[in-house]
Amino acid sequence: MHLPESIEQCIRQEAAKGATLNCYIYDTTPMQQKIKHLSSIMPQGVEIFYAMKANPHPVFLQTALASGVEGIEIASLGEAQKAVDAGFAPNRLIYTGPGKSVEELRWCVQHGIRTVHIESLTEAYRLHQICCDEDKCQDVLLRINANFDIHEAQTTFSGGSKKFGVDEEKLDEVLPHILNLEHLNFRGLHVYAASGVLKFQELLKNCELVFQMVQKIEQDYAGVRCDIIDFGGGFGVDYLETGDDFEPQAWADGLAALIVDYGVQERHFELELGRYLAADSGFFCTEILDIKDSRGKKQVICAGGINHFRRPAALGINHPMTIVWMNRPKLHVYQEQVRHERVYFGGPLCTGADKLANDVPIEAADVGDIAVFGLAGAYGLSMSNQAFLSHPKPKELIVSSCD
Ligand SMILES: Cc1ncc(COP(=O)(O)O)c(C=O)c1O
Repeated sequence: MHLPESIEQCIRQEAAKGATLNCYIYDTTPMQQKIKHLSSIMPQGVEIFYAMKANPHPVFLQTALASGVEGIEIASLGEAQKAVDAGFAPNRLIYTGPGKSVEELRWCVQHGIRTVHIESLTEAYRLHQICCDEDKCQDVLLRINANFDIHEAQTTFSGGSKKFGVDEEKLDEVLPHILNLEHLNFRGLHVYAASGVLKFQELLKNCELVFQMVQKIEQDYAGVRCDIIDFGGGFGVDYLETGDDFEPQAWADGLAALIVDYGVQERHFELELGRYLAADSGFFCTEILDIKDSRGKKQVICAGGINHFRRPAALGINHPMTIVWMNRPKLHVYQEQVRHERVYFGGPLCTGADKLANDVPIEAADVGDIAVFGLAGAYGLSMSNQAFLSHPKPKELIVSSCD
């Protein structure tokens, strides 16, 4: 893994303070560049939202704001508040996710968020009730669990039995209710196939399917128009360093062609991107506290584990990583070291699940060195089990953010 100089410098400055090093380091320049690049290549009508679940740190929200995203995709009231605190007006928020509470929906209606993405008939009625109480109307999208999945994706959100959205086969049962609820304004569909997709063709198949649904709805329901079409997130990043990156330009070109084929110009096409925007703007850096040889394999124990960086264990993959050598003096002459071998990295937690990486080829590592995990800007700290064993929260250091 290539480690930017600014990150290594920050690690060395932090290490020089003397305390055990365990932190995230963020440089959101890549995020800014990606948002600007995507905005410049997308067909007309495509609007980019930052899915803040990837990283809710204010610097990511500020970077999204300054780089010109349309708004923020939120999935809780806590996220709504963070987005507003970062400077996003409520009418730039779109709210997705199953299980929205009465309090959360009421906040949306009271503050006039842009759209609530309805995940079930019950949710539609709950929202409608709140709208009646508040004497307000709310724009909504209907989220569909399409009868389509992307097998190679890291996580799928469509296909099979899912907690997300309404099954495609039930669209005609649910949509008439929504159209009849007079305080809900039906604006279109949300169909999100999968997360972590590297093949742009797979995500384009989802877009085509959505356009077919839109066509059918507009044929079957007189006067109904799907003005907003939300494809969710899903652009992947190359965790395995295969060189097989997601190709946004090819995706954009494919979408432009589909828009023409299906005659759906002059609509809003929403993307809610998390991982693709945030992943390479963050590094998890944790000090090696111990190295043991256990039955022929080195166990490298770091200051932070799945309490601070759970994603590799949760997804069963290794993130790209490197070691920053600190040349610390040995504590005793028998102290183990790693030299040109494949090793296991774990944290300090009392569970075998506390794995940061396994079978990683390492040139050299010693106690006191810093293990650095890349592509940790997305779903890093936000997805971790911070409460387990009550270790202090890792610092989040910022070396650079956008203007
Ligand atoms: C509704 C919704 N939108 C967007 C995203 C962001 O997905 P990604 O990080 O793959 O772009 C997620 C991720 O779980 C999601 O659930």
